[in-house]
Amino acid sequence: MRAKTPSESRTIMTDMVLPSETNPLNNLFGGELLARMDRAASIAARRHSRRITVTASVNHVAFNRSVPLGSVVTVEASISRAFRTSMEVFLDIWMEDRITGERTKANEAIYTFVAVDETGTPTEVPPLMPETDLEKERFAAALRRKQLSLVLAGKMKPNEATELRALFMD
Ligand SMILES: CC(C)(COP(=O)(O)OP(=O)(O)OC[C@H]1O[C@@H](n2cnc3c(N)ncnc32)[C@H](O)[C@@H]1OP(=O)(O)O)[C@@H](O)C(=O)NCCC(=O)NCCS
Repeated sequence: MRAKTPSESRTIMTDMVLPSETNPLNNLFGGELLARMDRAASIAARRHSRRITVTASVNHVAFNRSVPLGSVVTVEASISRAFRTSMEVFLDIWMEDRITGERTKANEAIYTFVAVDETGTPTEVPPLMPETDLEKERFAAALRRKQLSLVLAGKMKPNEATELRALFMD
């Protein structure tokens, strides 16, 4: 299978925050942001694999900054690494200043998607070829994140998570 670059599947979704999507402090409700991220990540995974994709795991979400009512929010999803049937998707969330148009990073998240066939059976995906320094950095760290996710899900024994263990040995 031909290796693909992250830019071939990068997915950018911009939308604003409406009153029905906020919490009592008039900031974007966390679950609404999770749904937006899941949608963008799913499209990126689908573009990379050209298969049906399902969310296997939400590995990390950091709600570092609240996003006020009326904000223009951009969710950017990129495949950070492809394994055999699974793909790690990195999400960067940006807020746009209404007056200056300047973008600031609000949140980030990491999801894992699996490509499946019509019966729901996992199926192979093309490898990922990172290009930029950031893409290479995320690619390099993705294996230990996969191992951590599998250990936490009870699908891998901690002593088999060699890449993850190496992090603590250094
Ligand atoms: C995701 C799913 C297809 C995985 O099925 P499975 O029987 O565990 O299949 P496998 O063991 O062959 O795993 C498939 C891949 O997923 C990866 N995977 C499974 N669980 C994972 C987890 N918690 N974290 C990271 N990767 C995971 C495996 O490592 C494997 O990756 P690889 O082939 O690239 O090495 C299956 O659990 C499923 O269909 N879940 C429901 C998905 C869904 O409905 N999502 C929406 C939620 S409402």
